[in-house]
Amino acid sequence: MAPSAISTDRIKKAVVDAHKKHKSKRGGKNASYIPILGQVPSKLFGVCVATVDGQIFTAGDARYEFALESISKVFTLGLVIEQRGPEQFRGKVGVDPTGHPFNSVLALELHNDKPMSPLVNAGAISTISLVEAIDAEDRWRQILGVQGDFAGRPISMSEAINASEQATNFRNRAIAWLLRDGGYIYCDPMEACDIYTRQCSTLVTTVDLAVMGATLANGGSNPLTGTKVIARANVAHVLAQMAMEGVYTRSGDWAYTVGLPAKSGVGGGLVAVAPGQLAIAAFSPPLDEAGNSVRAQAAVAQIAHTLQLGLFNVPPRNE
Ligand code: DON
Repeated sequence: MAPSAISTDRIKKAVVDAHKKHKSKRGGKNASYIPILGQVPSKLFGVCVATVDGQIFTAGDARYEFALESISKVFTLGLVIEQRGPEQFRGKVGVDPTGHPFNSVLALELHNDKPMSPLVNAGAISTISLVEAIDAEDRWRQILGVQGDFAGRPISMSEAINASEQATNFRNRAIAWLLRDGGYIYCDPMEACDIYTRQCSTLVTTVDLAVMGATLANGGSNPLTGTKVIARANVAHVLAQMAMEGVYTRSGDWAYTVGLPAKSGVGGGLVAVAPGQLAIAAFSPPLDEAGNSVRAQAAVAQIAHTLQLGLFNVPPRNE
């Protein structure tokens, strides 16, 4: 379906209605294992749709900056598939859902320390170690750069969020050493863990998140700047990973009920991609047990349903 098939009035109304319906929704708790995330006001709620032709529709706190967290995994994945090719990446990290929480050590134990998915912490740390870089600074510069290319504006890291994460990321450090033991990390393990922690600590708005998703929806070209960020063929691999593991242990439920590739972060962000059409992003800090924002899931699901975007919807014949 061409992007123009959905009128701007329908999109505008869908965004405003989803915000209105879910802004008072209760349930969930801010992530508190990263202390600074526990201090973000829980009432914040932003919604945004960005289309492949560069239109932006917002409601609520869509310009509030929050921590990108696990959503960062998507963009580093894109960078590394570009550099290494999809087959080398598949062999070195893996592309299957783990069926376990995002920070699971058990998932590693069950697969001889192979991380399986680039969208869980272990796989993301392994993916970072595959960035073709001359040193740590170059690795970080490329990762920050690709986030900015997806967003269409320079992205920067919050020193305060990074400090809070670095002071508490013991589990991720353990995961990095397990990866080293299993042969699934391809640079210094603590360098990869440090850069992983930084890439989670960058600041985005809900609008940025929607534009980042719209860059994927647009075949890898940023709809605002025209920059070709990743190849169209590689977008398919990234979206497949989002569909398999994007909302962790809820990914099956999400595919069943919404039907769009998506990615969440413990900062409260969520982005879903309707290929060739648009991206829907939402942000609100309280999370469910799996680590996904309660209000963001509700808003994104409602917009996807209203605009009939689910990828598994079969169009009727001869009607
Ligand atoms: O490594 C962590 O645990 C966090 N920096 C990111 C985890 C995350 O966002 C999981 N997403 N829902």
